[in-house]
Amino acid sequence: MKASRRSVLALALLSVAAVSCVSDVSDQSKSSQGKLAPRQPNKTSELALSMRNLDAELVLALEALNSGIGVESLTITDHDFLKLKPTDSSMLVDGFQSLSMAFSAHVKAFNDQPGADTYSAVVGGCISCHQRACPGPLERIEKRQWAVIEGK
Ligand code: HEC
Repeated sequence: MKASRRSVLALALLSVAAVSCVSDVSDQSKSSQGKLAPRQPNKTSELALSMRNLDAELVLALEALNSGIGVESLTITDHDFLKLKPTDSSMLVDGFQSLSMAFSAHVKAFNDQPGADTYSAVVGGCISCHQRACPGPLERIEKRQWAVIEGK
């Protein structure tokens, strides 16, 4: 759907508040750890950008679920993470390829049959990989869970 794709992009651009893999709590102690490479806040990797777009798509889908409109007209983009450049290669942990493939299968299932169940499986796929590869955004991703919001 063209219109929703455009608003997804707009949302993605708005959500520039960067969530890196490392938690921001470490900021204060950074000055005492001269060994750490300086962070590059202005540089967003291809992989990180795809993640922000996905996150924006989840926000839209969750809104649609919450409002009762339903997600039947929405799609989630099936990125090929393996072809996107990460911020640094240490992010491509062991198992990254199979986690990507598993995630992609959840996205395809959602796009074939958009609904609350397939949506939840997609969010589960985000979480599985982030527990292994990049724990920083987990807190944010957990807010995308349909059941959690529903229970509030
Ligand atoms: C196969 C593993 C994997 C899956 C699946 C995955 N992520 Fe990520 N995610 C990563 C990695 C690795 C990074 C770090 C990317 C970088 O900095 O280059 C990342 C980064 C992020 C970021 C931070 C981006 C930034 O601005 O720096 C967010 C937010 C995020 N992911 C959300 C999600 C959401 C939401 C999903 C599900 C729709 C998801 N991720 C699925 C591995 C994954």
